[in-house]
Amino acid sequence: MSAPPATAIIGGGIIGLAIGWRLAQAGVGVEIFEREAAGRGASWAAAGMLAAGVESEPGEAALCRLNRLGQALWPDFAAELEAAAGLGVGLRREGTIEIALTRDDAAKLRHVFDFQRAQGVTLEWLTPAEARAREPHLGTQLAGAVFSPHDHQVDNRAVVVALRRAFLAAGGVLREATPVAAVVCAGDRVAGLELGTGEFHPCHRVVLAAGPWSSLLAGLPEAARPAVRPIKGQMLALGMDPAAPLLSHVLWTPRVYLVPRGDGRLIVGATTEERGFDTAITAGGMFSLLEGAWRALPAIEELPIIETWVGFRPGSRDDAPLLGPHGPEGLVFATGHHRNGILLAPLTAELIARYLLEGAIDPAMHPFLPDRFAAREVPVG
Ligand code: FAD
Ligand code: GLY
Repeated sequence: MSAPPATAIIGGGIIGLAIGWRLAQAGVGVEIFEREAAGRGASWAAAGMLAAGVESEPGEAALCRLNRLGQALWPDFAAELEAAAGLGVGLRREGTIEIALTRDDAAKLRHVFDFQRAQGVTLEWLTPAEARAREPHLGTQLAGAVFSPHDHQVDNRAVVVALRRAFLAAGGVLREATPVAAVVCAGDRVAGLELGTGEFHPCHRVVLAAGPWSSLLAGLPEAARPAVRPIKGQMLALGMDPAAPLLSHVLWTPRVYLVPRGDGRLIVGATTEERGFDTAITAGGMFSLLEGAWRALPAIEELPIIETWVGFRPGSRDDAPLLGPHGPEGLVFATGHHRNGILLAPLTAELIARYLLEGAIDPAMHPFLPDRFAAREVPVG
């Protein structure tokens, strides 16, 4: 059997790098084109929660199934990546606690808890005293809590650094500071990429993994342009004493989440804003994060703010990823991962690599094929 043709990937975030790593491991020629430095987009900005349980919402049963499949891959993926890169990725397995501060919060938490349990998510309802026994720094205002033992976290920044190294070690080619200006088509198939330098890069298979920038590429027929938009998230990190951290679990409150890292960083996130690619860090954004964190964990008051940043989630029309072939022959989408791109990176890589290597569309991809929107958009009248 002849070797499959070389594949070009647009975007060196966690999704492009993970797919590239899997292809390079399989001996396929693969080149990633990244306009800046790999891993510095949404994948750098994220909190690294692997929250298939607590982040699933009523109405998202199919996405919850995908997220749980993705979550199950993480322990082996992290171990394999650490071995391949010779670097740690900070997978922590304390699980997540979600708290309610008021009776209203508790009623809402119970409603979502019932939905999540019906999806098969393992969750345990905790009294305020039981929650405080697990996290002694929780504030006095507490109306109930849920423990999710499988919603872990990983250091997303360490993951992209490790993926970059593993991809290169497996023989992949990474072209950083090389924006792709357009996908070039010949008739109804992909012929190559036009690079920002003006260079033409011939190739017949292109994976579009440009995260929140995915809809901006020129050259695609209008019907094949991914409906992905940036959803702004402001974040901040506080500095805890690593020897005496205020928190050991990931903590979800009604307004914010808090993610304690092993090095003492306490990440507080995140706003959800429809502001295009606006990079402003606002007083209102920081206030809501700090106030939400302080209500749950008053002892943060003494901690220094060590970093603030903005990132953009790649949001699709239904908040679920776009996975699989679409538009001109040879074009494959791996984008639109919205709030769960870190969680879904190992699974996305496995599904997309298998499609490229064997031509097989895994049944898990069916609800997330990019043409699902066309089928739903019935003209009015
Ligand atoms: P990116 O990491 O943005 O990578 C896309 C890359 O494409 C970028 O490096 C960009 O420079 C490059 N690119 C764009 N256009 C071009 C071009 N024309 N040519 C060449 N290169 C190009 N997910 C979780 O699972 N857990 C979390 O806890 C979590 N928290 C989050 C918190 C915040 C504040 C945000 C913003 C996101 C969070 N996410 C989380 C979501 C997650 O970060 C994303 O879904 C994921 O990183 C998307 O990865 P990506 O590789 O598709 O995009
Ligand atoms: N998944 C967390 C966020 O998107 O903010």
